[in-house]
Amino acid sequence: MRLHGHVFSVLTDLTAAAAACVARLSAESVRSRGRFTVAFSGGSLPGLLCPGLVAQPLRSGIDWPAWRVFWADERCVPATDARSNYAALREHLLDHVGIAPQQVYPMDETLALDPAAAAAAYQAALARVFRPAAGEPPRFDLILLGLGEDGHTASLFPSHSLLRETVHWVGPVFDSPKPPPRRITMTLPVLNNARDIVFMAAGAGKSEALARVLGEDEGENTPAARLVRPCDGRVTWLVDAEAASRLR
Ligand code: 6PG
Repeated sequence: MRLHGHVFSVLTDLTAAAAACVARLSAESVRSRGRFTVAFSGGSLPGLLCPGLVAQPLRSGIDWPAWRVFWADERCVPATDARSNYAALREHLLDHVGIAPQQVYPMDETLALDPAAAAAAYQAALARVFRPAAGEPPRFDLILLGLGEDGHTASLFPSHSLLRETVHWVGPVFDSPKPPPRRITMTLPVLNNARDIVFMAAGAGKSEALARVLGEDEGENTPAARLVRPCDGRVTWLVDAEAASRLR
């Protein structure tokens, strides 16, 4: 794994750098493989990242029709619910750029009452788009992740059994400590097979978690975000000065 990190004192600089990073990875992926497979997280990430993507000059330089858009995790709520990660990305990105509905892979909202079925259906959608070799998880060009104050990322929460998942690509969560409790999430085998992982974190509330994620191994208490270490990929941390305030 190759690890990079950048600290920004101004939030708009963090937005601009993150958007430029995504645009560069999109261009590289389209050049090498003809498409750009990207998974988004929810929380503050779409609002931090997307203003830079939808603004010029990046907006008209990005090959939007080559994008295939997924979610690293989703809350099990209808797509019209304000808590939906799909709804957040529509608001901040999808409604503003040339990405057609057939390029977008949201959770099947008709399964929102049944997280296990929703996770299985999402895994089947990944299999159809990526067609990986037997036993291989999909290989995303980019997975965008946030950081919870307890060190969670996507919907992989501390001490949850999904942290030990080695077979399934997407798992159900019934007891998320961050509301809403029912969710689906990509698992570590998928996150750790990505070409690029970009974490974004802003605010003092993230400082302790960030110090733990980049600090010493805590064994059983290790925050989930620390377990994101792609075997053949890069991890980039884009954070603001407040989030970085406890780093040595
Ligand atoms: C979600 C997430 C989750 C998020 C972190 C950070 O849907 O809740 O994808 O992993 O990225 O909780 O959220 P904030 O940036 O809002 O603190």
